[in-house]
Amino acid sequence: MNKTIIVSNRLPVDLKYIDDELVVKSSTGGLATGMKSVHSEGNGIWVGWSGLADEEMDENQKNAVDTALAKEKCVAVPLNNDDIENYYYGFSNTALWPLFHYFQAYTEFELTHWDSYVEVNQKFADVVLQQVNDGDTVWVHDYQLLLLPEMLRAKNPTLTIGFFLHIPYPSYELFRTCPWRDELLQGMLGADLIGFHTYDYARHFISCVSRIKGIEINFNEISYANRIIKVDSFPMGIDYDRYHNAALEHDQSSEESKTDLMKSIDFHNKSNDGSKLILSIDRMDYTKGIPNRIKSFEYFLNKYPEYKEKVRLVMLAVPSRENVAQYQLLKRETDELVGRINGDLSTISWTPIWYFYRSLPFGELIDLYVSSDVAMVTPVRDGMNLVAKEYVATRTKGDGVLILSEMAGAAKEMLEALIVNPNNFDQIADSIKEALEMPADEQKTRLDALQKRISRYDVERWASEFLKALKVAKDIVPVQV
Ligand code: UDP
Ligand code: G6P
Repeated sequence: MNKTIIVSNRLPVDLKYIDDELVVKSSTGGLATGMKSVHSEGNGIWVGWSGLADEEMDENQKNAVDTALAKEKCVAVPLNNDDIENYYYGFSNTALWPLFHYFQAYTEFELTHWDSYVEVNQKFADVVLQQVNDGDTVWVHDYQLLLLPEMLRAKNPTLTIGFFLHIPYPSYELFRTCPWRDELLQGMLGADLIGFHTYDYARHFISCVSRIKGIEINFNEISYANRIIKVDSFPMGIDYDRYHNAALEHDQSSEESKTDLMKSIDFHNKSNDGSKLILSIDRMDYTKGIPNRIKSFEYFLNKYPEYKEKVRLVMLAVPSRENVAQYQLLKRETDELVGRINGDLSTISWTPIWYFYRSLPFGELIDLYVSSDVAMVTPVRDGMNLVAKEYVATRTKGDGVLILSEMAGAAKEMLEALIVNPNNFDQIADSIKEALEMPADEQKTRLDALQKRISRYDVERWASEFLKALKVAKDIVPVQV
């Protein structure tokens, strides 16, 4: 029987050696959390990087890594320190990530980074090719592996190859600035089906293929190298039941089983009668609009001072890509902003911003989602944003308001949220007020519509629709002229 292999840079688990002990943690980020449930229910393997540098491990440690990954149905692509520096922090995260998110000023094109990107994509291809049999399906994910589809096809044309991009695809005007634009497109065109979160991203990709490669395109079909390549949008969903059921369990949990975080939230809620919580959860990434969110919360408190001592912003920022300079600058800016605002506005019984710089286990994430009256998801640019969907899935009592940036892919599907421009502080301040004062029946009407859509188009449905479309795409025979 043919199998499906998932390939992405990041595996669903992230491994570390701490004092010689191998620690296995769940990875953060939409790709890993979303694909995890698809993978655990399927019979295929997942190929990716373990998070460790190969030369820093002895043979025993490498074996322990392979064993730990095998338990998760995963296979590692060994990366050394140079790969991590040049391919991962370098080309992937200082060229492609900022470029594709419209941060052109942060984008650096370096030849050594590019060379390493090609080399590491080839390393991924070699590992995948060892795992496949003729006729298998390979589903490649995200911007770190844009060259992989073509590399796989060159070695094994019997494979069915799908590619899905989890981040935005930029407009031609941005993409054309990349010195290796041709090679990147060529790499992606090795796939039979290329998927994006939104129609706009797919349209940008098609426009780049047409203008850079001069290929003629018929609606969403690209005829190239005697093949038809299909391009389409597949908005990624979440494992709705997992979040919804965890929230239901949370509602029934006893006092003794509560986490320390939950006890602390309860304590403040009780001691601060009528006070409300606004939630913010992201990786610490400049695309997420974290400084703007903090500043607009301060602006809100100054514009509507009656809310001082009545609302708190709980902000979870998960450490991410800490070796990249722009991420270090963002961390410093965030620390300073939170420190200044809390210093200026706190009272004996009230701290306006609770700030956590760490990742939280699933149970505590649920605590945060369930306890928050409002969620502010205001990225300046985001492929999809699953946090917005997770918040909605955990609102089991029909209350809660989502404030969502129009720059997130999720905004295309979540029109019942309060949609804002993440750069417009005045609009955000008014939306926070509107959210805090929204009548219960309006909250419920909006949530019902959101929940209906998100539960129907969950991650399982997303994956099955992509794989169905992939099979159809593989079977299209080009018309010979
Ligand atoms: N997340 C997590 N641990 C945390 C905080 C967040 O696993 O401590 C998860 C969160 O539940 C979500 C993902 O990280 O599934 C973030 O995905 P999103 O699409 O919002 O953004 P990305 O990080 O992929 O840019
Ligand atoms: C986003 C990207 C993923 C990436 C994740 C976490 O979701 O689309 O490809 O895995 O961020 O980033 P990291 O660099 O830690 O893998």
